Amino acid sequence: MKTAPHQPPASAPSPVLPSRPILVVGASGAIGSQVVRALVARGARVRVLIRSLERGADLPPQVERVVGTLEDCQAIARAMRGVHAAFYVSPHDEREEQLAENFVRACELEGVRLVFSGVHADGKNRLSRLIQRTVFGLLMPHYKPKLRLAERVRTSRTNPVVLVPGNYFQMDEVSREELLAGRYPLPLGLVPRVDTRDVGEAAARALLDPSVPSGGYALVGPESLSGAQTAAHWSEALGQLVSYTPDLAVMDALFSRAYGARKALDCQKSYRMVGKVKVRTSPADLQQTTFLLGRPPRSHAEYAREVAALWRGAVPIPAAAYPLPSAAS
Ligand SMILES: NC(=O)c1ccc[n+]([C@@H]2O[C@H](COP(=O)([O-])OP(=O)(O)OC[C@H]3O[C@@H](n4cnc5c(N)ncnc54)[C@H](OP(=O)(O)O)[C@@H]3O)[C@@H](O)[C@H]2O)c1
Repeated sequence: MKTAPHQPPASAPSPVLPSRPILVVGASGAIGSQVVRALVARGARVRVLIRSLERGADLPPQVERVVGTLEDCQAIARAMRGVHAAFYVSPHDEREEQLAENFVRACELEGVRLVFSGVHADGKNRLSRLIQRTVFGLLMPHYKPKLRLAERVRTSRTNPVVLVPGNYFQMDEVSREELLAGRYPLPLGLVPRVDTRDVGEAAARALLDPSVPSGGYALVGPESLSGAQTAAHWSEALGQLVSYTPDLAVMDALFSRAYGARKALDCQKSYRMVGKVKVRTSPADLQQTTFLLGRPPRSHAEYAREVAALWRGAVPIPAAAYPLPSAAS
């Protein structure tokens, strides 16, 4: 697989929509739902592999549903039949490498383009990828399976597009009550961050447009953000002071309350690392994102303003109904 060009061509005009459907995995989740939204908005035919019809209840009615799991190769084969391209995001699951293998193999068998979103050490050559994977694996041992499965995708015979998003803006929303109380408790050193809607739209472009070169693409917002900068955006959006108060105990409680055990643990471990690192968004990463989107990415300040407006229109939330350690403890 070629690495994505560092000087991507100017965004191509919209291609003709494929008549065959696009298969999306994880359609009830944070990223898959945005991919479905972006594909439907472009008028594409969408098919999803979901674990039950209830899990797909919020999907637009025209979306084709195939009920099955990633453990079930026959269900994957059924879902894959006759599709134009397929989107994969790795679920928080201890068997994630095997689940990815089942899906990648089905894409290879059907000759289907695979667009993947996840953690990936995307160096320019084999040595730099190995170094990146080793360093990443040392910093984040629990990411080793994620890095291996991304490498499997990158080297697969699927004409793959590997999207490597930064930290999602939308992760902030687990802290809603804390933000409204004037605190931003998630530790953030300085990291590239991105709106999940942009991840969905970039994926839709790669799924629909065969002229998008196979390769790795960073997906980032306009700039890297620290915890203090993120809190400042929330201050401006909410019209009240929000202070950066990184607190691992509060964070752990928030993730445990919001997510299932495996996802909560993944997020708790990831943020322990994210709180320590300082990574600046590079012009090349921004260029790759802009290429796929055909426009500059959304900013965190803009995202926070939209969410604050939604929250203002929503029913006021009661005082925290769950046991959270105080920010000072
Ligand atoms: N960059 C960041 O800030 C960030 C943050 C969080 C996660 N991530 C990464 O994003 C990935 C997770 O994506 P997400 O946040 O979209 O996950 P998510 O919201 O937890 O959604 C997971 C999706 O996968 C489906 N799924 C789970 N197990 C399945 C199985 N065995 N068979 C079929 N479908 C299955 C779920 O379906 P059900 O509805 O049936 O459960 C759900 O639709 C992880 O690899 C993680 O590392 C990145």
